[in-house]
Amino acid sequence: MSTATQPFAAALDTATGRVSPQGPLQERRLSDLEGLYADAAAWRAAVDDGDPLVYTVSAATVPEQAGQVPFSITTIEPGDVAGELYMTKGHWHTADEGEVYVGLNGKGGLLLFDGDAHRWIDLSDGAVGYIPPRWAHRTVNTGSEPFRFLAIYPGAAGHDYERVLRGGMGARVIRDGDGRGYEVRAVEAGT
Ligand code: F6R
Ligand code: ZN
Repeated sequence: MSTATQPFAAALDTATGRVSPQGPLQERRLSDLEGLYADAAAWRAAVDDGDPLVYTVSAATVPEQAGQVPFSITTIEPGDVAGELYMTKGHWHTADEGEVYVGLNGKGGLLLFDGDAHRWIDLSDGAVGYIPPRWAHRTVNTGSEPFRFLAIYPGAAGHDYERVLRGGMGARVIRDGDGRGYEVRAVEAGT
């Protein structure tokens, strides 16, 4: 019997970013983010030079099925590709479903895009970010330590990554000049 057919308590290890009992564990390396960074040559050079881990998703034992409410911790490592900060791939939900992100530790934020306008929500210091239906979403580590957040979403949400590859997120998050701050820079749709 799957755990999620019964009530259960999960432990969130905020130091390691692991949920237990643990379901699927995903690791995304830089090579998994092909086509998403503005500087493709810098992306290629970093992939060839060790293909670093960019983020990990530790999911609870809740199936992605209608009626269920999966949750997971994402840990994004600190780093950048030619100044563009480490980030998740980003996706649209295929169903009209929202999501809630809860900042756990580290510095980071949530970039949202409705196909026209973008928004930025800082998730540092335990902020809760609300993602309405029909907003693509991507998270970004804006600090120098791992950035972790808890995501809670409807099991029927579905994930469309191709649309972000094709249409972008409306903005890119770039380290600023002195390397300590960052800028959310608007870009043309599809770039
Ligand atoms: C689920 C959700 C998050 C992300 C995770 C990794 O709907 O939004 O759990 O799946 O932060 O990001 P992606 O899925 O964009 O690789
Ligand atoms: Zn989502």
